[in-house]
Amino acid sequence: MNSEEEALYYRLGGSGEIRQIIDDMYNRVLEDPLLKGFFENVDMTKQRQMQTEFIAAALGGPEKYGGLDLAYAHAGRGITSLHLSAFVGHLLAVLEERGVSDNDIHGVVTRINTYANDITGATSSDG
Ligand code: HEM
Repeated sequence: MNSEEEALYYRLGGSGEIRQIIDDMYNRVLEDPLLKGFFENVDMTKQRQMQTEFIAAALGGPEKYGGLDLAYAHAGRGITSLHLSAFVGHLLAVLEERGVSDNDIHGVVTRINTYANDITGATSSDG
């Protein structure tokens, strides 16, 4: 964590607001024909919780992420960069909708993008 990320976490409104952002994001993801199939057998209550913890911690919040390693959690699911950009697109749309500044949206997306290879499997040949 650095102080700039910590400031970003608080500018977004802290854990309660981040939970709302994640809820809105998954509401969109579950309506997207490209993405919804990935979550068919997933416990979405737990998923929303884990994702909120992860994003809050990644943006410098005091939360501790207690879930699986991201590369392990996403391995073998056939997630490509196309899926990832659609997913991040929903996050972006929610941030815009909630009036987050362009600068802060950029900050969030830049932070999330550092995990892109873990999610799509950097050395995978199937995606
Ligand atoms: C911004 C990028 C992403 C982040 C930060 C992220 C984060 C996470 C986290 C924290 C978990 C929970 C791991 C655990 O259960 O301990 C998870 C699980 C999962 N993610 Fe992602 N994810 C991202 C993108 C995606 C994309 C693009 C897809 C598919 C299109 C996806 C599909 C899944 C699935 C299917 C699970 C497993 C749920 C389960 O079986 O319990 N994720 N992700």
